[in-house]
Amino acid sequence: MNHSDKQEDVDPALVDHLLNDLKNKYSLTGQSLTDNLEGLLHANYLKYWNYVHLDTLLSLQNPRTDFPDETIFIIYHQVTELYFKLILREIKQIAGHSELTPTFFVQRLHRINLFFRILTFSYDTMIEGMDVEQFRQFRMALLPASGFQSAQIRKIEIWSTDFINLVNRSHRAQYTSEDSIDTMFTHIYWKAGATDQNTGEETITSKHFQHKYKADFIELGENVRTKNLWQLYTQLLNHADITDELKQQMTEALRKFDTLINVDWRLAHYKSAVRYLKDSEGVIEATGGTNWQKYLPPRFQRVIFYPEIWSEEEQNEWGKKWIEKQ
Ligand code: HEM
Repeated sequence: MNHSDKQEDVDPALVDHLLNDLKNKYSLTGQSLTDNLEGLLHANYLKYWNYVHLDTLLSLQNPRTDFPDETIFIIYHQVTELYFKLILREIKQIAGHSELTPTFFVQRLHRINLFFRILTFSYDTMIEGMDVEQFRQFRMALLPASGFQSAQIRKIEIWSTDFINLVNRSHRAQYTSEDSIDTMFTHIYWKAGATDQNTGEETITSKHFQHKYKADFIELGENVRTKNLWQLYTQLLNHADITDELKQQMTEALRKFDTLINVDWRLAHYKSAVRYLKDSEGVIEATGGTNWQKYLPPRFQRVIFYPEIWSEEEQNEWGKKWIEKQ
């Protein structure tokens, strides 16, 4: 018996109810119920491969070499960027919530922390999942591109904290958080990583990156001055629903987020650089031209989004535990 022989037992009252809801929905936008029902009649069934654009998605891995492991490198960057997109979506839902509550803030921060835990854990795809010799060869075809040019991680940073906390520590004293973002951007921490130590010249990787995204970063920085995660947290401390327990949950969730993005994930990433760019003969220069050994370790970068909720000792020990353990 095929499907056409078996008619669904339709509950006329339910159909009436649904049709009425549909009629109300369409009338809100001046549309006709019958036209849309007729449309349904002609519409093709949705198929998974069309819904997720599978053919397009699987056509987006275009290696520049014939080394099989280059595709692993491309796919894992794409996976990371998709998780960065999920994280930005959650942050924007927190910031865009018309009646934000401490409970919603905690719930969504837990999601963000889950996504960063997955990124940190799955980073072994890079550390153990590729052949070192293949990597050392195909990466030469990628110069001067680098993950350093990932714009979404920079946007996550800007959405997460007051901009002053992204200013290079050795220059931070000359700024106040009231300064324009454009001014503070002069010494954003990651520029130091992509500056030739001898000439003081910024690397071509950084120049390309800033040429494409600098205006976006500055505009975003100005837009989120009062609605980045830190600002929302401080506002929620005075929320009607606030309790000591919720205060503690919000603080714990922010501390976890700060550690995941600025220590755990960066350390996993640094570990991959150590595996692929260091051998018995010494250190291999990175595609982005940074002095990565001095730049990448969190204990040197010391990017801390929420200094107010860490003790001085915790800040001084930032990112060290892993190195000591290793
Ligand atoms: C074998 C794997 C990897 C190696 C060896 C590696 C190596 C490096 C190096 C040496 C840098 C310093 C910048 C430069 O000079 O190029 C860097 C920066 C960066 N990479 Fe990777 N990378 C790897 C995988 C990834 C993946 C999968 C992502 C995900 C998007 C990523 C994102 C980044 C980011 C965001 C930066 C800037 C970090 C910062 O400013 O603190 N990398 N990478």
